[in-house]
Amino acid sequence: MNIGGKHCRAVAWNAASKCPRWLNQCALPFAVIWRESCKPEVIAQAIETMEVRGAPCIGAFAAFGLALAYAKHPNDFINHWLPRFRATRPTAVNLFHACDYMEAFARSHTATPQTMVEAACHYADQEVASNRAIGTHLAEKLAVGERRILTHCNAGWLAAVDWGTALSGIYQLHRQGEKPFVWVDETRPRLQGARLTAWELMQEGVDCCLQADVAAAWMMAQGKVDAIVTGADRIAANGDVANKIGTYALALAAKAHGIPFYIAAPRSTMDADCAHGQAIPIEQRSDYEVTHAQVLNSEGNIEEAMIAAPGICANNPAFDVTPYDYITAIVCEDGIWEP
Ligand code: MRU
Repeated sequence: MNIGGKHCRAVAWNAASKCPRWLNQCALPFAVIWRESCKPEVIAQAIETMEVRGAPCIGAFAAFGLALAYAKHPNDFINHWLPRFRATRPTAVNLFHACDYMEAFARSHTATPQTMVEAACHYADQEVASNRAIGTHLAEKLAVGERRILTHCNAGWLAAVDWGTALSGIYQLHRQGEKPFVWVDETRPRLQGARLTAWELMQEGVDCCLQADVAAAWMMAQGKVDAIVTGADRIAANGDVANKIGTYALALAAKAHGIPFYIAAPRSTMDADCAHGQAIPIEQRSDYEVTHAQVLNSEGNIEEAMIAAPGICANNPAFDVTPYDYITAIVCEDGIWEP
């Protein structure tokens, strides 16, 4: 991750203070605010409020939170802290993968507060290595003419500790001196595209342009999109993919226009126990996210503004499922998998 030319990670263990450190994604792009806490409950709440979000990132962050919980409250680790972290968000399976990993480690006879921290750091490092490998495979694929890439939500550094999944390939192409161009869907209602992806790509100097989600199909119709690449929150055993709401509509439009649609995700996003997409739990978030928006006012302060008819009810499913036959290939750390 490259902020103002300085390399850092979206979440990390601070060895000096012995607690996790994270970039508050709710403040971006208006302010770069780093936070730290030694309270596992604060870590769990940061996942719920989406200060830390994105499938691989919440897995790694939960691992840090659980290492903290093991050291501070060893007697409540199994019965309170594991369920507490598992309940923070329902769709991204990386969270459950990380909780299972930390539970298995805690139950082994080598577990100590120190080895639990080492296990969590190892988990985060592995995610970063996987994302880097995904980017290498993706960059090879995109180097063959598919340079005008459309992406949705944020599947970059911020979502994945470092490198990203969908954006990892774009960053690698860019660092090789190639010139990828990215259409950034704004991603209503929380605007991860407008606020996070656009900011990340600009920090790295990648050529990009923001657009309303509803512009995507029209850009495809006009021949202005060579490929679509998104991340994933859970991939079922049959290859169906849950990702940010709006991904399914992109896949439908891509198929109609004969445009390749790639999913980039590490193995920690794959759920072999989930037979198909209809079995994936879809998070329903607050209607407030649809009826209100955060804005930067003329005094430079962030404030909430109502953007809908007062009193209207609002529907806010946070994810949707794209059936496997709309997906050209899934790119993971092992390579590129076609249906
Ligand atoms: O609700 P969010 O912001 O956590 O959703 C994130 C996404 O849907 C991302 O596309 C996905 O996690 C891929 S992360 C590399």
